[in-house]
Amino acid sequence: MSDIFPVFHKLLGRSERETLLKQKGIVIWMTGLSASGKTTLAIGLEKTLHQMGHLCYVLDGDNVRTGINNNLKFSEEDRKENIRRVAEVSKLFVQCGVITINSFVSPTNELRDMAKSIIGADDFKLVYVNTPIEVCEQRDSKGLYAKARRGEIKDFTGINAPFDTPISPDLEIKTDQHTFEENLKVLVDFVVPKIKA
Ligand code: ADX
Repeated sequence: MSDIFPVFHKLLGRSERETLLKQKGIVIWMTGLSASGKTTLAIGLEKTLHQMGHLCYVLDGDNVRTGINNNLKFSEEDRKENIRRVAEVSKLFVQCGVITINSFVSPTNELRDMAKSIIGADDFKLVYVNTPIEVCEQRDSKGLYAKARRGEIKDFTGINAPFDTPISPDLEIKTDQHTFEENLKVLVDFVVPKIKA
């Protein structure tokens, strides 16, 4: 690293960009099982905030894993690298003043804590999209639970790989107890005060 000469001090600062955008950058980090409804809520949040005049960006596992992280699979080590890279990218987005909405299984408290420490606690809000595994498995929108049950996927979260219950998330959404519209409203109401310039 001794031949690296960072120029951070010469770059425009975050506050100039936030002033331009009339908003504060933040990371809304959605954790939950596959098919829990994370990305559907993330997209709903983005659309709502966009209509209110905010610049947002949604990062989600399925998309990121076709691009920047297309060399990673689902071993413990690869998931850690997946989350590390996403957290570093999110940190850059926050410096741009962007409302960054992340939808990642991020199955362990260790991974979530790593993301939080990379991004910085003040800019990181953890949202637990809590949908019982029976409901996720019944939805099985991608057919992955069925494959995991047949033994065709060996490290599938919730079936044969762990999912830790998040410790004190900033917001918990129990998707099976309310409608999508109700859940989205709770999420929007949670985020709006945090992005005021
Ligand atoms: S994470 O564990 O590293 O955070 P990420 O959110 O990027 O996972 O990707 C999860 C998505 O990949 C799931 O929604 C599902 O579509 C797909 N997937 C494929 N294999 C697995 C697996 N073994 N465990 C969990 N999700 C998987």
